[in-house]
Amino acid sequence: MKNYKIALIKGDGIGPEIIDEAVKVLDAVSSCCGFHFEYEEALMGGCAYDITGDPLPQETISASLRSDAVLFGAIGGEKWDSLPREKRPESGLLRFRKELGVYANLRPAVVYEELINASSLKPEIIKGVDIMVVRELIGGIYFGEPKGRTDDKGWNTMVYTRMEIERIAHQAFRIAQKRSKRVCSIDKANVLDVSQLWRDVVTEISEQYPDVELSHMYVDNAAMQLVLNPKQFDVMLTGNIFGDILSDEASMLCGSIGLLPSASVGEKIGVYEPIHGSAPDIAGQGIANPIATISSASMMLRYALGENVAADKIDSAIKRALKEGYRTKDLAQYDAKEVCSTSEMGSIIANYTAK
Ligand code: IPM
Ligand code: MG
Repeated sequence: MKNYKIALIKGDGIGPEIIDEAVKVLDAVSSCCGFHFEYEEALMGGCAYDITGDPLPQETISASLRSDAVLFGAIGGEKWDSLPREKRPESGLLRFRKELGVYANLRPAVVYEELINASSLKPEIIKGVDIMVVRELIGGIYFGEPKGRTDDKGWNTMVYTRMEIERIAHQAFRIAQKRSKRVCSIDKANVLDVSQLWRDVVTEISEQYPDVELSHMYVDNAAMQLVLNPKQFDVMLTGNIFGDILSDEASMLCGSIGLLPSASVGEKIGVYEPIHGSAPDIAGQGIANPIATISSASMMLRYALGENVAADKIDSAIKRALKEGYRTKDLAQYDAKEVCSTSEMGSIIANYTAK
């Protein structure tokens, strides 16, 4: 029997609760698809800082590198916000992404038919929305030098090299080839030199993908177009910070940020995580929506392990749970037949997965 090693990084806040549900579903799917998971837990974020003094212990990197994929919950919380920046949970996560070389963050925003009323936008605007945000993850203003802070000045630098733009552009075009074959590249080339380079390089790379249609859009306009007419988008290719912002915006088309998964892939192994944060305000209450994490586990099966049948089973189980009216608290107002807890939702999806 095939054995997959998965590093589990539960993190802070609701992280542990949602990862537990994803594990439930993974175990259900593995027992019916003929493979086995071996999990190794590792620490990251505030919990890692509390125990080791470092938000990203070396051991977590090693554990991740000896696994086939990493399933990650969420990190951060007010408790650690006043620490020096390099000790903060978020710095651990950024270093982690960099160490693993996961330069491409794939964030699908797909509207579930069953939740069409949960969006703040009109049903006719969002029905059928299926967007893939391809966000560059280990460059741009998050990592650029120089950066610094004095009492009355703070600065960061947005830098991209040709190589960094080329590799993320290739990812976006390849993904588009398997979808509706349209890439919209997002930048601020009317103001930023770094964005003009981005636009030029993406245009050059597009010549290698004649079957894919490329367009360019300024980020401010893209933010507007996303709520005006989201169906115009197929693949949105973005730099780090623009993708961070636009993917949160795109998630609201779908009704709850608790639904959206992501895959971060690159040079070594991939990291699969919900796009939402650690939500410390609701941690421990059993009301978090585990679907984003369960759906991330499905992306892990598909992208990292090539277990497409198992991934399809999970995706169908999620849809079925929603169709039958099961809702966690975030979606309780929208056509709920039964409001369920985090762990009830996990069990329902696990159960449907195994059928
Ligand atoms: C995300 C988060 C992170 C980011 C934070 C927690 C560092 O917002 O994954 O979108 O900005 O990348
Ligand atoms: Mg974000």
